[in-house]
Amino acid sequence: MIRTGRIIPAARKESITLAAEVIRKGGLVAFPTETVYGLGCDALNPEAVARVFEAKQRPSFDPLIVHVAEKAALDGLTQTISLSDHRLMERFWPGPLTLLLPKRARVPDLVTAGLPTIAVRMPSHPVAQELIREAAVPIAAPSANPFGYVSPTCAQHVADGLGERVDLILDGGPCQLGVESTIASMIGSRPELLRPGSITLEEISKVVGPVVRARESLTMAVPGRLARHYATHTPLTILTGHTVRSVRPLGERAGLLAMTAPRHGDQRYCAIEVLSPSGDLREAAQHLFAALRRLDAQGFDRLYAEPCDERGLGMAIMDRLRRCAEPLT
Ligand code: TXA
Ligand code: MG
Repeated sequence: MIRTGRIIPAARKESITLAAEVIRKGGLVAFPTETVYGLGCDALNPEAVARVFEAKQRPSFDPLIVHVAEKAALDGLTQTISLSDHRLMERFWPGPLTLLLPKRARVPDLVTAGLPTIAVRMPSHPVAQELIREAAVPIAAPSANPFGYVSPTCAQHVADGLGERVDLILDGGPCQLGVESTIASMIGSRPELLRPGSITLEEISKVVGPVVRARESLTMAVPGRLARHYATHTPLTILTGHTVRSVRPLGERAGLLAMTAPRHGDQRYCAIEVLSPSGDLREAAQHLFAALRRLDAQGFDRLYAEPCDERGLGMAIMDRLRRCAEPLT
């Protein structure tokens, strides 16, 4: 395999042709989706899937999401699909919604970490769509970052984290949404939200009725839901209520992740990243991971993050910040 970690422009037709060939031959291609960049391989090739785990240094008990370009591709991957799942696909596909469905035996166990369910989604990004169609196989793809670190939202993030462990990086510019897909399951007795994302709990409820937010203790341990995940190297503290911008110990070199533009320049921080000057949650989500990476690269003693209202997309933003803020255990 090529194994160059080379970044090539996704806009060129030859790039997609080459990337599809790499996938078909069992290689690894990082590609843009509307959420974050994925590290893709042929989902039905167990050796290729094993290379993804190795490249990310991801524990094998953490299952992957399989990406398809059309609903017909589900026939080869899943068993019966419930009415609620069909409705959700109708409403949100292609787009940032991953669904857990009962899997077929031909899907390698490594993909699903031995679980009876497979996580599938149909990305809306044109490059992702083209790549899947051209490769003519379902593409298994976790986020293209070393296990546990912040997800990549541009091609350079992928190169920084995985370098030559990936054969090819398709550069499709920055990701539009910026947080990973919403994961939902219609398998239990009630619709469950496993990971909040751009498609909100409220939106899903409108289609399938009340949705419960899966509680860590009640369901199996899914690493995307492990405490410290999506984490910066620099310890991060979420500011709360009245302590906002006032808790920093003297002498500490700190950076601030601000949701909106600070009203006064804040001299106590060495650097401030503003997620959305106007307080728009979509814009904040889009910039979240790149801002965290920039702050993390500066070697500060600590990062502080302002919280946002936990409704709608705010639930996904706070979920990622909390996981980043957990102490290492
Ligand atoms: O937006 C996204 O979903 C991105 C892009 C590349 O599509 N992908 C992504 O993949 O975030 P990853 O591997 O970083 O996160 C997938 C999450 C993991 O937390 C994994 O444990 C969970 O999905 N997952 C996968 N299969 C599952 C299953 N059968 N049951 C429960 N959770 C599952
Ligand atoms: Mg990930």
